Amino acid sequence: MALATRTDRRPSTTRTIWDSSVGKKSVMAVSGLVMLGYLVVHMLGNLKIFFGADEFNGYAHWLRTLGSPFLHHEWALWIVRVGLLAAVVAHAVSAYQLSRRDIRARPVKYAHKRRRASYATRTMRWGGVILGLFIVWHLLDLTTLTVNERAWAGHPYENVLSTFSTWYGNTIYIVAMAALGLHVRHGFWSAAQTLGAGSARRDRTLKFLANGLALVLFAGFVSVPVAVMTGVVN
Ligand code: HEM
Repeated sequence: MALATRTDRRPSTTRTIWDSSVGKKSVMAVSGLVMLGYLVVHMLGNLKIFFGADEFNGYAHWLRTLGSPFLHHEWALWIVRVGLLAAVVAHAVSAYQLSRRDIRARPVKYAHKRRRASYATRTMRWGGVILGLFIVWHLLDLTTLTVNERAWAGHPYENVLSTFSTWYGNTIYIVAMAALGLHVRHGFWSAAQTLGAGSARRDRTLKFLANGLALVLFAGFVSVPVAVMTGVVN
């Protein structure tokens, strides 16, 4: 019986799907929707800041005791963190690989360099990079408190106030939230098309949903720095 050589081996179905552009786009769509779900909940949770320090800090405490006594302290939070990290990595790796493919597929012998990537594609790429950098800054600012000027462990209300009492804190967050709005607007629409939800009849509704989600997330998140800057939250 002849032994199978390396070249005889068939790639697994998972491998074949992952290697295809449609497979990578589907991974981007699903991971993007997971993150979108988190963002809606996070934005709504952030609005508790308008009800004062006790309610906001109490909510942060509740997040750590969620599922207790069945789950140990912070376990639910860690499950969410691991899920989110997997979604961020899957989203970023497939985005990177798809854009490398796109660049490699470009014809090189143009007399003038022509831009093949559309305006939307370029906005998505830059937006993704800005959001990736923002997430790192945000974790250093409000989770590990490394870059927060008046950090007070276990007191997120006071830490948020500290962030938005600096000009650079406000600038970083507001620019990132604008990038987030644009990213969600196009990303939601693309994900719906990739997952086969688009049709001539549904496209208007999907566009409306994409615009609405982007606007609600932008306004909800930005309302926090604006409220601190104007003294509504102090
Ligand atoms: C003005 C906008 C935002 C404010 C005021 C804000 C506020 C906060 C606060 C206070 C925490 C710490 C919560 C705690 O320790 O209990 C936090 C954590 C976090 N935020 Fe935000 N956030 C904002 C926008 C965003 C955005 C746009 C993203 C994602 C792109 C994001 C992702 C996260 C993540 C991943 C964590 C870590 C959760 C954890 O594992 O502890 N946030 N945020």
